Amino acid sequence: MADSRRRLLNLLAPAPVHGNRSSLTCRFKCGDACFHEVPNTSENEYLGDIIDSVISRRGLMKVGVVAAGAAAVAGTGVSAFVNAPRAAALDTRGGLPGLGWTPIAPSTADAVVVPQGFAQDIVIRWGDPILAGAPQFDPYAQTAAKQAGQFGYNCDYLGFFPLDKRHEIMVVNHEYTDEVIMFPAYDAANPTREQVEVAWAAHGLSVVVVKKNQGNGKLTPVVGHRLNRRFTATSDFEVTGPARGSRYLKTSADATGYKVRGTLNNCAGGNTPWGTVLSGEENFNQYFANGAAVQGGLPQQAISRYGIPTGASERKWERFDDRFDLSREPNEVLRQGWVVEIDPFDPTSTPKKRSMLGRTKHEAGTSVIAKDGRAVVYSGDDERFDYLYKFVSTKKVQPGGAKANADLLDTGTLYVARFTGDSPAAEIDGKGTLPSDGAFDGTGEWIPLCTDTESFVDGFTVEEVLVFTRLAADKVGATKMDRPEDVETNPVNGKVYMALTNNTQRGTAGKAGVDEANPRTANKHGHVMEMSEAGQDPAATTFGWNILLLCGDPNDPSTYFAGADRSKVSPISCPDNVTFDEHGNLWISTDGNQLGAHDGLYAVPLAGEHRGEVRQFLSVPTGAETCGPWVTEERVNICVQHPGETNGSTFEDPSSHWPDGGDSLPRPSVVTIWQQGKSAANQRGPKAPAGPRGQRIPDPKA
Ligand code: FEO
Ligand code: CA
Ligand code: CA
Repeated sequence: MADSRRRLLNLLAPAPVHGNRSSLTCRFKCGDACFHEVPNTSENEYLGDIIDSVISRRGLMKVGVVAAGAAAVAGTGVSAFVNAPRAAALDTRGGLPGLGWTPIAPSTADAVVVPQGFAQDIVIRWGDPILAGAPQFDPYAQTAAKQAGQFGYNCDYLGFFPLDKRHEIMVVNHEYTDEVIMFPAYDAANPTREQVEVAWAAHGLSVVVVKKNQGNGKLTPVVGHRLNRRFTATSDFEVTGPARGSRYLKTSADATGYKVRGTLNNCAGGNTPWGTVLSGEENFNQYFANGAAVQGGLPQQAISRYGIPTGASERKWERFDDRFDLSREPNEVLRQGWVVEIDPFDPTSTPKKRSMLGRTKHEAGTSVIAKDGRAVVYSGDDERFDYLYKFVSTKKVQPGGAKANADLLDTGTLYVARFTGDSPAAEIDGKGTLPSDGAFDGTGEWIPLCTDTESFVDGFTVEEVLVFTRLAADKVGATKMDRPEDVETNPVNGKVYMALTNNTQRGTAGKAGVDEANPRTANKHGHVMEMSEAGQDPAATTFGWNILLLCGDPNDPSTYFAGADRSKVSPISCPDNVTFDEHGNLWISTDGNQLGAHDGLYAVPLAGEHRGEVRQFLSVPTGAETCGPWVTEERVNICVQHPGETNGSTFEDPSSHWPDGGDSLPRPSVVTIWQQGKSAANQRGPKAPAGPRGQRIPDPKA
């Protein structure tokens, strides 16, 4: 029986190594990245020997010294935080602004568990209709044509834009597909064309207008709304920026190097102040096959540095479309791994691949406006020992939304980050012990890789820096990080927060050792970095940083919670996405909790006496990760991604029945949560947003 064979395959699968991730997650989410050799084998070791010279030369401020917040710069014309909400006073005398709820205990329930006093509802599930005429979901009769009009699988990034008083535009991306729990009797060795094409249609992004319910946080999709859209693995995308038309991007199907079919593995993203969404193509490598059979042209280093399969791919898409077979179309793999930009306000717009932001396994594309009005975009490259990147535009953000900023991201400078600790290397013991100055902290530089017209990397043209960004960054001494994921600017205090999910190979044999920015050996619970751009300007080329959290069980001495009383801290493991509420509290979602409970969403005060007191707000169902947190005055929204994705779970016998219960199939879904018994404007619970995320840049002439 197909079912028993799959179980056997799963038994034979390697033990989970990515946190508490199941082998299914490893297999489908990132192509078993953790079982493969770390792609970054460059000689780019931590540059501890230049610490002293860098510190003395730069004379940088540390994070703690940089004090000005959004309030200080708002109202000064085009400022760093022109979109910041009313800056809420960080008055902690009364307790915890925005966090007046009792944290939940870690949970293993097959449910979304929220604090007492909060209610929840499902907004939309995998397969629910979006476009006019799309049918209701029937997992036994799914087709690609149906899926193309329905909500996709494994929702990850989640963002909203106000549309009118009663409606918002919801933008969600769909990272990947879990075929063994999507399709009845799925045979991984012999997927059918229909299954493959359903999977193509279940990837990508969804734009869905939702109607807000008066008096609570419920959101109802408006099926068939003129703005509703699906982007999939077969939609047309346009390449913009310096790599447009590059010889590296030309294929049999596209001799121009301008047009790409589809987007793959979209992970974290961000709403821009000019009203678009940026979404990072992450583990795109896993969909391509036969990297070892590439003839001429593409160097093997370009295959291995991105972890592209040398033989068959997991999903066998190469059997159904040559573009996934590198032996036939070697350049197709170079057309994925970009940050894509979509305009949710224009249903006729062509989505863009913004080549100026480089090609990596992008996690996030979060934007903020520099003091002089230019756009700044941060993006992590989510792989063990990979890097953090920043783009600074040449042009200034203009009023007028997407149209007025259509080429904003096509000219500018791409940087990669180098972190330098300020404590002696001998004091970083790998066990999380604070160095004698009391902090894992230091300074950093944004090392320029290229502008749109000039490369700063020896041996690389501009287009080569952008297409082979990892290889270029290896050459300039970027700091190897513990899986940089979401990175986002706090609109209240102006600092930048980055989740580093984990890296169990840090400091192990043959791998890069600990450094002050990645201070734990075999870092299995990850950490959160707090950064401050010099002069509070997002366009700065230097920054200060400190580690805010070393995650784990607070009873574990290798953990650190910004000096908070450990008895007040919720256990937290594998931070992934970050966001902020209107008070400037940091919210963190997790992926791969290794503490025996399910993943969750956590809030952390960053100022005052409660700084560092991690509080768990919710827990997600069996096998799921928490994604796309969106925290506003009215409600909290999350994506529940890959429920039921545990070892041995199948369509016939899934390990989760969320959200529909009974013996139903698990369905990745968007959830909305609100505080009961309070009008939306009168909540004491999670409060409102987060500057650059939901709002368009105001017209200064208005
Ligand atoms: Fe798709 Fe790095 O998480
Ligand atoms: Ca230090
Ligand atoms: Ca993620």
